[in-house]
Amino acid sequence: MREIRGQVADTVAAIRARWGGEPVAGIVLGTGLGPLADRVEAAAVFGYETLPHFPRSTVEGHAGELLAGTLAGCQVLIMRGRFHRYEGWSMAEVTYPVRVMRALGCELLVVSNASGGLNPRLGVGDVMVIEDHINMMFDNPLFGINDDELGPRFPDMSAPYDRALRDAALAAARRLDCVAHSGVYAGFTGPSFETRAEYRMLRRLGADAVGMSTVPEVIVACHAGMRVLGLSVITNLCRPDCLDETGHQEVLAAAEGTSRRMTGIVEAVLPAAAAA
Ligand code: HPA
Repeated sequence: MREIRGQVADTVAAIRARWGGEPVAGIVLGTGLGPLADRVEAAAVFGYETLPHFPRSTVEGHAGELLAGTLAGCQVLIMRGRFHRYEGWSMAEVTYPVRVMRALGCELLVVSNASGGLNPRLGVGDVMVIEDHINMMFDNPLFGINDDELGPRFPDMSAPYDRALRDAALAAARRLDCVAHSGVYAGFTGPSFETRAEYRMLRRLGADAVGMSTVPEVIVACHAGMRVLGLSVITNLCRPDCLDETGHQEVLAAAEGTSRRMTGIVEAVLPAAAAA
């Protein structure tokens, strides 16, 4: 992990050469949730390929740009397109942008994703405010020699998702007439969707939804001392005893249907969260 700090300094310098803002929050847009980026007054846009040490997006539905600008009156950095373990990036590469956001001053991380609903109460298009997670990736972005300047060797994970932010997101969803639940997210590596036996196992382990992202970024945000809000859109129902086929197009379509409400939740939560 030792080499990360030098690389982050290079990336920060490239961003600082074109943007002098003071971001309070970093926002990672997941599958089909790109429209939130349209609400940003962008002061600078950085293609991932122009940023030193940044990985590149390879997935449909994930653009590859870092936006710096203003959302709901707050200065933010937005990742249009994230990196996944299943693309072949290491966990350190997947989470590299979170290190950059932190180094630029972000104390808050908002992560969004699409996920399959395991809890029978969840419907397609519902929002799940993530209250906790289960790391089923059998990998960790903090493997290796720890850099104590970046965070502690053994970071606490007793409350990775900030309670006040979760409550604010649920309250905002109610005001927006958006069905929102609180629940536990299980992160698998993918890219294959889960089998019926795996869905059954995950439900028994206490997961409400399952997806292929978020867990690595949240581990690094906790390591770096950031507060985290995680929002998941339920795009398909994981009912092991009457399972329909799942495909990426269906996931994209369901995520897009909810993107306006997700945007509303983030815009409602951000100003108070940034001031806290
Ligand atoms: N499993 C894993 N990832 C997902 C799913 C799912 O059912 N739906 C959307 N992303």
